[in-house]
Amino acid sequence: MLFILSWFFVLRLIGWSHPVGLSIWPNPKLHVVADDENSKSQNGNDPSTTKISSIFEEANSKNSMKFSSKSEVLKVFMYDLPSEFHFDLLEWKGTGNSVWPDIRTSIPEYPGGLNLQHSIEYWLTLDLLHSEHAQDFGGRSAVRVKNSSESDVVFVPFFSSICYNRYSRLKPHEKKTVNTILQQKLISYLKSQKEWKRSGGIDHVVVAHHPNSLLDARSQLWPAMFILADFGRYPPTIANIEKDVIAPYKHVIRRFINDSSDFDSRATLLYFQGAIYRKDGGTVRQELFYMLKDEKDVHFSFGSVLKDGIKSATRGMHSSKFCLNIAGDTPSSNRLFDAIASHCVPVIISDEIELPYEDVLDYSKFSIFIRTSDALKEKFVINLIRGIGKDEWNNMWRKLKDIENLFEYQFPSRENDAVQMIWQSIARKVPAINLKLHKAKRFSRTHVPRERWLKSIPIPKNFW
Ligand SMILES: *[C@@H]1O[C@H](CO)[C@@H](O)[C@H](O)[C@H]1NC(C)=O
Ligand SMILES: *[C@@H]1O[C@H](CO)[C@@H](O)[C@H](O)[C@H]1NC(C)=O
Repeated sequence: MLFILSWFFVLRLIGWSHPVGLSIWPNPKLHVVADDENSKSQNGNDPSTTKISSIFEEANSKNSMKFSSKSEVLKVFMYDLPSEFHFDLLEWKGTGNSVWPDIRTSIPEYPGGLNLQHSIEYWLTLDLLHSEHAQDFGGRSAVRVKNSSESDVVFVPFFSSICYNRYSRLKPHEKKTVNTILQQKLISYLKSQKEWKRSGGIDHVVVAHHPNSLLDARSQLWPAMFILADFGRYPPTIANIEKDVIAPYKHVIRRFINDSSDFDSRATLLYFQGAIYRKDGGTVRQELFYMLKDEKDVHFSFGSVLKDGIKSATRGMHSSKFCLNIAGDTPSSNRLFDAIASHCVPVIISDEIELPYEDVLDYSKFSIFIRTSDALKEKFVINLIRGIGKDEWNNMWRKLKDIENLFEYQFPSRENDAVQMIWQSIARKVPAINLKLHKAKRFSRTHVPRERWLKSIPIPKNFW
């Protein structure tokens, strides 16, 4: 018994989470409300701000604590990683000594197409660089600090998704891909930094939004907080919802500006466009296809959004009432965010999906969730959707227009857009990080290096 208690204690110290639910983190509702006095006075008349805060209100009203506006801005130390880890991957040619582009004069462009859906670290990095020149902190949720002793978290600006997308195929004469080499270099860079040594990486933020990005390094960098699309390709010991942050995909469908459509003018009841995967989710897609193909107001077609053209997908989603999101070979996909940008009520069939900012956002107000086991019952999906009337649909459509801004990546970033919402999500994890760090310091007087006491713990093989 004593033995069990002692390794439980160590797992808690180093923050291993366990699927059975070692619930060691504080109540997530005890978070800081994004209710900044400055931004209020500046944006008090902006109706979009008011609407967004009213949506958060319900989630926040019960247990929230309010702090002064100053403590709400997350202080982020960003490593000056050599540019081969970030903007060089976008074919930026730096001049001079700085590893960073001077974003006041020009902004290196991110490659377009489907690359963009995982471009999260690009927008976060740009926002940190921008925070150094910002005149106005209204609406800003994070600021770059140069002294790491004063930071809440340490940001690792490795552009892991584009590195995977562009540099993970072996070129002639190469023994290892650039993607493999950079991950190895990143590990040795981080492990030699005083910031990493200080915390064992627990207060570090590493972005790995493409499900295959950071494949080699994740098993070494796991004490850090990952920014991910989902947990589909991660064991729960490496990544989990307590430690990590789910970020939205950048949508590829054009935003529906000045949407004056309504229930009747959106002629298609239910829209789906996507690939058939042979793995996991593929069978659900096929079965649903056979169930739905004869419904005349249902659009169900296979093929990627790019193949049939973004234009036709945009037209389709903008003129549909409901948009289907079915798990593919990962639980998440950018189709959900395309649906939100189109104000097409998402119908989510993905049992394992984790959603961005769900601790402050109630998706059931503007989405329909269906369990896979229910979706496979004859007529279940179509009967459920047909049962949703005009008024209920209108409410969800209005909510979609209220919250769509939370999923927009842009530069410069604006209040409560995707970039700021991700910083806020990170900020809500800071108390849990500090708890772990403080607990780890309890026995610092005995000077046992972290690695040594870790190795001395016999972890039972059949535990996971
Ligand atoms: C960094 O911050 C710490 C704590 O506030 C301070 O003691 C130290 O002098 C600072 N270092 C520099 C180089 O400013
Ligand atoms: C949307 O409406 C506003 C105000 O009527 C107008 O200025 C703007 O050009 C419209 N935008 C688009 C993309 O139609």
